[in-house]
Amino acid sequence: MTITKLLIASAIIAISQTAFAAEHQQGEQLYKVYCDACHGMSGGMDMSKRVAPPIAAVRMHYIGYYRDEDSFVNAVSGWVEKQDPNRSLMRGAIRRFNLMPPVAIKNEDARKIARYIYAGNLQKPAGMEEHVLQQHKKAGMN
Ligand code: HEC
Repeated sequence: MTITKLLIASAIIAISQTAFAAEHQQGEQLYKVYCDACHGMSGGMDMSKRVAPPIAAVRMHYIGYYRDEDSFVNAVSGWVEKQDPNRSLMRGAIRRFNLMPPVAIKNEDARKIARYIYAGNLQKPAGMEEHVLQQHKKAGMN
């Protein structure tokens, strides 16, 4: 590869990374406004102090069923649009916390949030993975 080609290639990579980072950042901001109050870190893994599962636990459930980004984004933004218990992947969470209340948000913003969640750079309360595995064992899922 010539130097010029190399420079052009790295410029293109830098530009697309910036675009990705900008969208990712927007998704993160929107997540903080619309979801974090319930799905954030407060309460840790003490379910009696929480009002909803941590978002990283929601991601773990959804990524198991919806592995590619498009179907993941459709499923999560679809849930935010309408909480249909028949389509729930977290029935234990509904029993514990009751059904998630509706969130007034534009679908395109919900999709940005879903892409941010899919990317997976999320804070996890200590002990979260163990908790999810235990719940699955109790439910006879593995
Ligand atoms: C007022 C509190 C509250 C807010 C705000 C909230 N959620 Fe939830 N969410 C819950 C509760 C409680 C549950 C667990 C019960 C359930 O699954 O319905 C839940 C569950 C979920 C689930 C799993 C649903 C299932 O059962 O399969 C997804 C996905 C989700 N939330 C996404 C979001 C996103 C994205 C946002 C922000 C746009 C958001 N939530 C905002 C309370 C909230």
